[in-house]
Amino acid sequence: MTNLSTSEVPIKVQHHHSHETAFSLEGKLILITGGGSGIGFEIAQCMTYAGARIIITGRREDVLKEAVTQLGKNAHYFVNDVTDLSSLEGLVNNIELAHGPIDILVNNAGINMKKPALEVSDEDFNRIIQTNLNAVFALTRACAARMIARKSGTIIMISSMAAYYGIDRVVAYAASKSGLEGMVKVLASEFSPHNVRVNAIAPGFIETNMMKTAMSSDPDRMNRALNRTPMGKFGKPSDIGWAAVFLASDAARYITGVSLPVDGGNSIGF
Ligand code: NAI
Repeated sequence: MTNLSTSEVPIKVQHHHSHETAFSLEGKLILITGGGSGIGFEIAQCMTYAGARIIITGRREDVLKEAVTQLGKNAHYFVNDVTDLSSLEGLVNNIELAHGPIDILVNNAGINMKKPALEVSDEDFNRIIQTNLNAVFALTRACAARMIARKSGTIIMISSMAAYYGIDRVVAYAASKSGLEGMVKVLASEFSPHNVRVNAIAPGFIETNMMKTAMSSDPDRMNRALNRTPMGKFGKPSDIGWAAVFLASDAARYITGVSLPVDGGNSIGF
């Protein structure tokens, strides 16, 4: 017979999920910024397949409307420009009034700019930081306050290989994504006692309009990216979508503060 002091209670037997429920997002409400196209849309699609209810945001109503039509009856949209920081508290409030508590936030909206560093103006630099970093923090703060009060929630940032190593001509973008990586660790520490997890996904080179724009005029860059990717191919937006489903689900309940590369091995390629 073991002696237990009153503070040493035996570990409770954990409730065991079946694999369907562990990976399910059934009934969860997910907010995805920039969800009308590219990676954000595929995250929305995969999360819909996993049973979630989806709110996508973006600036173009026609794109959002079309996306929601494709996603089906569990998807809704709100027109919102994430760089309008003073709108974000109101956005979260309106979403929760109409649809209930946001369980999962996916900070996906982002912009890129390819220019040699010496040609990047302060205005250029600020524009990228405003979308990719300042807006992510402001929206995360608005959602996290409510998640913390409810003692439940998960936040996912979309980082980039540009935060991992020195890709030339993306100085502002790399600074913004490196900022996200730091934010993930701090927020994961601060929010863990409140049962709110914070993680990032770092996509490798994924076939979207953003990547096509960055690569189409620059075949050398495209070949370099492919050559250092052990799997020898670019990723699909749904590869990011399924990783997001996993990180958002209970299957990942002990994972917080990480940045998960989804990159065909790009970050470890030689
Ligand atoms: P995309 O350009 O197809 O999609 C970006 C989405 O963000 C669009 O729906 C756009 O309308 C939205 N957005 C941009 N500015 C916004 C604003 N001010 N307010 C609201 N929405 C706004 O690009 P993609 O590739 O789907 O990018 C999604 C995320 O993935 C970005 O954060 C990007 O940095 C990241 N990423 C993409 C990679 C790739 O290879 N495609 C690699 C690494 C990261």
